[in-house]
Amino acid sequence: MQSLLDAFDRQGMNSFQVSVEGEPSPELVDRTVSEFRGREIDVVAAVGGGSVLDAGKAVSAMLLQHHSVERFIEGLDGFMPHDGRKVPFIAVPTTSGTGSEVTNNAVISRVGHDGFKRSLRHPAFVPEAAIVDPELMTTVPASLTAASGMDACTQLLEAYLSPFATPYTDALALSGLERFGRSFLSACTTGGSLVSIRGDIAYAALMSGIALVNAGLGIVHGFASSVGGLYEIPHGVLCATLLAEATKVNIRKLRQLDAAHPSLSRYAKAGGALSGDSPASVNEGCDQLVGLLGAWQELLGFPGLGEFGVRSGALDGIVRITRSKSNAVTLAPDEMRHILAARL
Ligand SMILES: [Fe+2]
Repeated sequence: MQSLLDAFDRQGMNSFQVSVEGEPSPELVDRTVSEFRGREIDVVAAVGGGSVLDAGKAVSAMLLQHHSVERFIEGLDGFMPHDGRKVPFIAVPTTSGTGSEVTNNAVISRVGHDGFKRSLRHPAFVPEAAIVDPELMTTVPASLTAASGMDACTQLLEAYLSPFATPYTDALALSGLERFGRSFLSACTTGGSLVSIRGDIAYAALMSGIALVNAGLGIVHGFASSVGGLYEIPHGVLCATLLAEATKVNIRKLRQLDAAHPSLSRYAKAGGALSGDSPASVNEGCDQLVGLLGAWQELLGFPGLGEFGVRSGALDGIVRITRSKSNAVTLAPDEMRHILAARL
């Protein structure tokens, strides 16, 4: 980072640096904006993981506004639509997960009782430029690679299964799942320092970002908003923890509704893309997908929700505030509760 700042200096460019730790809060965004508003900032660049990119995106969105960022966050009292005026923003991801480098939203949270984890969103918030260089990701530790990677995997799968999926998002999601499946375990173990392996996961994350903006996401991301607002759980860890069970429950519900439901063949196809196999039947493909996700969960030791303080007595309340209009199938409250209970 210092060499980058020195290079700016040599070019006669003034630059200021802000460090971001953890997922961005309204206070962090407001504090940063009040420090730099009025300094004629030409561009905001964020170099880091999903939280850093979202923080930079939110700061770029707020430098030309005169209210707290909270006024523009979806679903909060007093919500005002943002008019899209912003300072240009460059995203340089150093992890592969959220796809924030190509999305139109920044997730802002205040965690705790009555907490929230919601989006600041506008089409103009898609970064003006994204520099996706897998070389920047070769030193990411295995646990972070696993959690952020599972966020990308969840986004690809949920966008592919969304009722709002299109042939465009399908093509992106399937190619992302293929690259992800062939390199994920390697990225988390022996191949983490290889640019080619990191390139596959970076590509998957990029595709997941484009797919999610256009198709939406499912129940795991519904929980990411509700559970994530109440408990300090990194977003990627929450996705990693819930994806296998949520996929199992979705497939079971689809089978109950119609054994030939078209979404079952989509699950089977997604499973084939992830595993690189060609399942003999839709049923087999669905079972293989659930098996593969469960095996990753075991092998990589994704922690249960209980480790973050979630208790069974809180589950009904969580289900009540969880929304998921783009899930593969509409789940009843007891089915949603089952996903959480299985991962306590
Ligand atoms: Fe996500």
